[in-house]
Amino acid sequence: MEFTVIWCFQSLHKKVDLFTIKRINLIIFPVKKQAKNMFTIITGAQFGDEGKGKIVDMMASQYDIVARFQGGDNAGHTVVAEGKTYKLHLIPSGVLFDARLLIGPGTVMNPKILMEEIAMLAENGTVVKPDKLGIDAKTSIIMPYHIALDSLRESKRTVKIGTTNRGIGFAYVDKVGRDEIQMADIADRNRFLKRLEEIAPQKEAAIRELGGDPKIARSEVDNYLEIGKKLKPYVTDVSMEINLALKEGKKVLAEGAQGSHLDIIHGTQKFVTSSSTVAGSACAGLGVGPTKVDKVIGVIKAYITRVGEGPLPTEQKNDVGEHLREKGGEFGTTTGRPRRCGWFDLPLARKSINLNGYTSMALTKLDVLTGLETLKICVRYELAGKIIDYPPELSDELAKYKPVYMELAGWDEELSDLESFTELPGNAREYVKLLEQLMKVDIEYISVGPGRKQTFKK
Ligand code: GTP
Ligand code: IMP
Ligand code: MG
Repeated sequence: MEFTVIWCFQSLHKKVDLFTIKRINLIIFPVKKQAKNMFTIITGAQFGDEGKGKIVDMMASQYDIVARFQGGDNAGHTVVAEGKTYKLHLIPSGVLFDARLLIGPGTVMNPKILMEEIAMLAENGTVVKPDKLGIDAKTSIIMPYHIALDSLRESKRTVKIGTTNRGIGFAYVDKVGRDEIQMADIADRNRFLKRLEEIAPQKEAAIRELGGDPKIARSEVDNYLEIGKKLKPYVTDVSMEINLALKEGKKVLAEGAQGSHLDIIHGTQKFVTSSSTVAGSACAGLGVGPTKVDKVIGVIKAYITRVGEGPLPTEQKNDVGEHLREKGGEFGTTTGRPRRCGWFDLPLARKSINLNGYTSMALTKLDVLTGLETLKICVRYELAGKIIDYPPELSDELAKYKPVYMELAGWDEELSDLESFTELPGNAREYVKLLEQLMKVDIEYISVGPGRKQTFKK
């Protein structure tokens, strides 16, 4: 029980003079305790694959709900727990704990991939029933024609994007174009067939025009209906669930996919994904007001990677890049493609801090820097004598700028078994402290390996 205290000054109509106040009335009455909102958002501060899956898994035990708000199975979140490695694409990374899991209506969902993931988890002893997972009725469904269009379109592009070919872009095109098929549609035979009848002819025409086989537009109908029947009990209203949970004082964690510079609005177009990956998108995608947010955590690697095309100013196509790729296991979780690797890029970090309003950061993969004699941090960019410390807005401009580095001494000690900041070698501590000073945001967590125990608070 909390109490509100109201001081009543007599003669307040007169000029307040503390010495002349004769009497102070103290009125005390109980007020209902206001539950503090606990709506935390986690997003990637770079180009994705920062290790959000691991950080979400680490935090999930403290939350009642973990929700995905954007993207689809282009995401690959890796969770390593009790000797097992889980590669999750759609199911939120809190799955190994008791949290309720939600897939919000801002996502695009391939139901076949979801079923595969539910089966994979069941094989590993985690049963995902409707009391555990909820899928919003309005979640966009990725259809076979989206995947076909994604690859056909990419094959025609002279400058490729490097899409994961999961149909993400075309599913979002249909969402925005109001031609989507939703979760509620595949859960109802008549709705689905009626909707497809309306949509299929334009998909057949589009596929034909790109040189593909139009039959794909009406393929897998029975399969989708079968899956729809199985998923029907999972259908929910995500916004309603989350708002109710927050009113009851429960804690909600929103799990981002991809990274801030892959954002469809603020990223490095055209080399971006088709959803909004920044923190504000969690509110829009889950139907929660921004006044409910208590924390926004940015996950950021101690270096940088990018998979697919697009500018990466600090990319190292040399032994350093090779070191980061091999030691960091930098191969795409979804596609297996080698990730491009480079030094930490402060201007890009500054931009993602602005885009997300981070309250703190989780620094991952510090262990990967072990063995590099000299470390570099890009602190600004330079082009023909012009120095800037914030990325230019356009991708083709960004691609022209050269990084300006500051150098630090590296360390040789392996970090994977360390359990606290103070145990880190001096140069590693200096590196972390410098990043924190440069970013002007607290580094709350430091990760030194893929496992749960390999994270500590700074
Ligand atoms: P997207 O949503 O696809 O952007 O992915 P993500 O941010 O969840 O990251 P992803 O799991 O694709 O990639 C991170 C990889 O690094 C995984 O293989 C993790 O197991 C691994 N990892 C995470 N943290 C650390 C760390 O501190 N050190 C090392 N060595 N590996 C880590
Ligand atoms: P799409 O979203 O599959 O169309 O891919 C568009 C761009 O985003 C490509 O450059 C992909 O490599 C990149 N991308 C998409 N999802 C991820 C991810 O989860 N991690 C890293 N990059 C991604
Ligand atoms: Mg990934």
